[in-house]
Amino acid sequence: MTKDLKNPPIDRIDGRMKVTGGAKYFADFELPNTAYCVIVGSEIAKGAIASLDTKKAQGAPGVLGVFTHQNMPPIPGWDAPTGGQADGPAPKPDTKEKYRILSSPKILFDGQPIAMVVADTFERATYAASLVKATYTKQTTRTELGKHIAEAVTPRGGDYLRGKADGYKAAPVTLEANYTIPVEVHNPMELHGILAHWTGADSLMIYAKTQGVNATQDAMAQAFKIDAKNIHVHTEFMGGGFGMGLRTWPQETAVVAIARKIGRPLKLVVNRSQMFTLVGHRPTTIQTINMGADQDGKLIGIAHAATAETASYEDFTEATVNMTKFMYACPNVSTRYRIVRLDRSVPIWMRGPGEATGAFALESAMDEMAHKLNLDPIEFRLRNYTETDPEHNRPYSSKNLKEAYQRGAEAIGWSKRKNEPASQREGDWLVGYGMSTGTFNAFRWEASARALLKADGSLTIQSAVTDIGPGTGTALTIIAHNVLNIPVNRIKVEYGDTSLPKAPTQGGSAIVSAVGSAVFDACTSVKQALIELATKDGGPLAGHQADELTLTDGVLSVEKEPGKKVAVSELMRTNNLTVLDRTKDSKGGPELGKYSMYSFSVHFVQVRVNPMTGVVRVTKAVSVADSGRIVSPKTAASQMIGGVAGGIGMALTEEAVIDHRFGRFVNNNLADYHVAVQADVPPIETIMIDKPDPIINPMGAKGMGEIALIGFAGAVANAVFNATGQRVRDLPITPDKVM
Ligand code: MOS
Repeated sequence: MTKDLKNPPIDRIDGRMKVTGGAKYFADFELPNTAYCVIVGSEIAKGAIASLDTKKAQGAPGVLGVFTHQNMPPIPGWDAPTGGQADGPAPKPDTKEKYRILSSPKILFDGQPIAMVVADTFERATYAASLVKATYTKQTTRTELGKHIAEAVTPRGGDYLRGKADGYKAAPVTLEANYTIPVEVHNPMELHGILAHWTGADSLMIYAKTQGVNATQDAMAQAFKIDAKNIHVHTEFMGGGFGMGLRTWPQETAVVAIARKIGRPLKLVVNRSQMFTLVGHRPTTIQTINMGADQDGKLIGIAHAATAETASYEDFTEATVNMTKFMYACPNVSTRYRIVRLDRSVPIWMRGPGEATGAFALESAMDEMAHKLNLDPIEFRLRNYTETDPEHNRPYSSKNLKEAYQRGAEAIGWSKRKNEPASQREGDWLVGYGMSTGTFNAFRWEASARALLKADGSLTIQSAVTDIGPGTGTALTIIAHNVLNIPVNRIKVEYGDTSLPKAPTQGGSAIVSAVGSAVFDACTSVKQALIELATKDGGPLAGHQADELTLTDGVLSVEKEPGKKVAVSELMRTNNLTVLDRTKDSKGGPELGKYSMYSFSVHFVQVRVNPMTGVVRVTKAVSVADSGRIVSPKTAASQMIGGVAGGIGMALTEEAVIDHRFGRFVNNNLADYHVAVQADVPPIETIMIDKPDPIINPMGAKGMGEIALIGFAGAVANAVFNATGQRVRDLPITPDKVM
């Protein structure tokens, strides 16, 4: 079993391609005769188009068509599911209002496409789009969550209760606090879009920015009522996904419809401001935590309520309150999750999704309570540590969180922290330390993979899965290497294409577990085939059992009889085989249901806060991952570093500001929406507990993408409190809130 091995820290297999321009992203693909599409967005957030003048645009050079609600080609399967996988079901249109792109003059959100302008070059389409003029009938916009919280609806899923809902009230020490997060936008470097080409009357080639080629294939098959087999989707590389590619967006479907109408390949790349309105965001969320503990620091009750925004036309929900149900030993726990339908575009999962939002509240509250009890925040967590899942009353498949607390504390220098806030100063700066726990489901989804071993000893691995950046291809290479003992430079991974064995959408930190298991099974099947050939009657190792044999460097040998061996190449040649080809479908067995499977993380930060300006600098960060066996050490560390960078943005700078008078974003560009840049990110130490999970899959690997960010913002808020005595419960922690 590869579980027992520490894995080799190989370089990212596609790293060189990515930094030398060899990696092709969807917009890099050029097809002959391609036309270009540019979207004109609504300038109001609610109302209707009163008049639309497209004449000038239609007459502009190179224009092939201006598509509006008046002439949009029909999309036969409008109500098709949109795909999506992170931690819940796909967003489902269960609202009364429906959004059907370019199907009516009605405006439901800021930036809603009112026209799609198509021309023979991108520049000409851009110019023509500037000539489209609209007037509107405006209605009052409802975009402010806090103002409309009374209109919240209860989504499917329901509330959770263990013990008494108000159990916290009876505790000697209680706390009530509200935590809010603003709209955050994924803002990966690569812009979103699609290139669609009808290769026949009912067959399609698509290059798109999607986290799941199979999901896009299914969505388009249903939208156009054609056989999925006739739709080929390719997304090998992605310049950051962060959740925005977890579903198919209406403008993608529209591009496919228009491409069919004009009879040319059609490419859409949305612009940066459209990234704020057309491809989802992390929803504004208001949370209240009530917590009660006794004087010994034992939790007596927690009530966690969250209310988030969604669109008027689609209910988006996420697992914001889930962590509270199982993280700590506590007899009375209740959670409530509500959504308010506002005049905004629909949210989508983003970086650690709802769990990151929820962890900010819960882990801030844990820090506040520790302070009230005059306890060290780690000590408070240890007093409420649970070895079994109190939500489901069953064991965790693995949990090494105590070790994670301890190793992270050592690395950050936690012993230098003083419990008394605002008690440490270095020059002009106040210094503080904070920590937070993170957790996310460890999934094992169904996936398939193919292994092709050639007689020359080289191996090809195939799976449709897209590598959105975490290093999936590298991890799959290492898994194959571990099973077949083939040098990593003789292993090639092909992925990101629907012609390859079906795989789930890359999301929910699930891909190493899901696709990795399929690769493990396919490679194991190749190995078994080799052993059968060698040990069958008349074979070179006839009479020996599988468990007596080892496979190393392309040679099968009998461990206890030196000299008794056969080269794989010879074995294949004598059996007239040029290739051994095995495809395996893999999913977890029923035994997985006996366990709660989660990854855990602990984030530690040191901050310096300038009391004159309120500026917060994260000056040191240590993130510890308890995510089972680490399959690809280098890319796993990079993923944790990326999570910290995203976490610094969430904590300190990221906020999409809406002017609620108009219901429109005012900082929808990268100059005014501040993602963390290099200068904001300190040296980051990553620590991997690297202990295999005995249950989840043959590699013993749990997911890591989401836990890299979940909890981080809470750690920063807690450190800011420790540095200054100011408790900021409203992200981002901008200087005005610290002063
Ligand atoms: Mo992730 S938010 O599942 O892309």
